[in-house]
Amino acid sequence: MSLRFSSHVFNPHSAKHHSFFLTRFSSQFIKKIQVSSIPYAFPSSIVNSSELYKFGREKQNPITVSSTTPSVETAKTSSFRNKNPKEVNILVVGSTGYIGKFVVNELVSRGFNVIAIAREKSGIRGKKNEEETLNELRGANVCFSDVTNLETLEKSVESLGVPIDVVVSCLASRTGGVKDSWKIDYEATRNSLVAGKKFGASHFVLLSAICVQKPLLEFQCAKLKFEAELMKEAEENGGFSYSIVRPTAFFKSLGGQVELVKDGKPYVMFGDGKLCACKPISEPDLASFIADCVLGEDKINKVLPIGGPGKALTPLEQGEMLFRLLGKEPKFLKVPIGIMDFGIGVLDFLVKIFPSMEDAAEFGKIGRYYAAESMLVLDPETGEYSAEKTPSYGKDTLEEFFERVLREGMAGQELGEQTIL
Ligand SMILES: NC(=O)c1ccc[n+]([C@@H]2O[C@H](COP(=O)([O-])OP(=O)(O)OC[C@H]3O[C@@H](n4cnc5c(N)ncnc54)[C@H](OP(=O)(O)O)[C@@H]3O)[C@@H](O)[C@H]2O)c1
Repeated sequence: MSLRFSSHVFNPHSAKHHSFFLTRFSSQFIKKIQVSSIPYAFPSSIVNSSELYKFGREKQNPITVSSTTPSVETAKTSSFRNKNPKEVNILVVGSTGYIGKFVVNELVSRGFNVIAIAREKSGIRGKKNEEETLNELRGANVCFSDVTNLETLEKSVESLGVPIDVVVSCLASRTGGVKDSWKIDYEATRNSLVAGKKFGASHFVLLSAICVQKPLLEFQCAKLKFEAELMKEAEENGGFSYSIVRPTAFFKSLGGQVELVKDGKPYVMFGDGKLCACKPISEPDLASFIADCVLGEDKINKVLPIGGPGKALTPLEQGEMLFRLLGKEPKFLKVPIGIMDFGIGVLDFLVKIFPSMEDAAEFGKIGRYYAAESMLVLDPETGEYSAEKTPSYGKDTLEEFFERVLREGMAGQELGEQTIL
């Protein structure tokens, strides 16, 4: 049985999995344990003994922070870029998310050694058990751990016994709540940087969001803080690089009304339906772009806004598209944006009396933000959103997505736990 498939589980915090791991592998790799002096062995398909030895030495010499200026040239020649994909070890955090699972599949299909960090109960409201997670992330080595606890995460990565070359983070708060955003979009993502660097990572690919250009929400501020620290790291450490991916809207965020409209309800939009626009991108297309960031020299130390193919679409155009596909006469319900402002005002007032309502107020602001702000590049010269300046990538269109949802429903396109993000 190949050791590179997701039927292999590592969990340093579960006695059950710990002993599973040791009994399963130690007899086969006892030689490597002795050579490397690393407490746990790892499959030969992941690393050879000379790499284990090198890794053992690197661990004794922690990565130092130098004061040299950022060097794309140094990053280009960094060792993992010259390796064959199968020798490149990529740690993926947020591997069980809407985008993360596609990223894992894409990286696996490109031949990389993927180590996917996951929770024992993953997915929306923790609905997926370990078995389901392993199935979903087939082809990757799944390591059950806790990204919110640095010590735990470091122990988990150490237990793998292999150096890490690249970290890819698709982590995000599942709720968008105030505390959870800081805990995940900042702290847990930072933990993955610290743990990854400790075990050799010299490149970090971050899935961020285009909306951080105009930060009015807590999760945007949390993401921006991490982005800034990532850039600083590359600035201070010439051998370290990053790619920050800032996508426009995901399909799941635009599909919420498809089944309602199919059932005869009107398409609801704010203002005249032209307040905001986006260039939606599919999960496979975005995953492919993120995978390009692992080795792509043109993506080193870059902030990369990215949208899907075709022109930018306003809610009005999305609604018209939907009615056209259904062969129905368009029926719109136009809601004044002021209604949201009123609701947010009330919630903001209530939060002052009941601080526990801070998340409810934040969700209101999130709704308001996406009702009025375009998910396009904000042109610094004009201060306006620009469809022309928003790069396109991939081949999947929103129209094809709507057709699929009309045929098959929204399975796999569920929103997060507060139904906004
Ligand atoms: N929605 C959009 O239109 C849009 C547009 C542009 C950018 N984005 C950005 O894209 C990013 C990814 O979005 P997504 O929809 O793929 O996210 P998602 O489906 O909500 O996935 C979030 C990932 O983070 C993990 N995570 C969350 N809380 C955790 C915790 N407490 N402990 C451990 N892991 C935790 C989840 O693990 P579990 O499975 O265990 O929960 C999951 O793997 C976000 O940063 C978002 O802002 C979204």
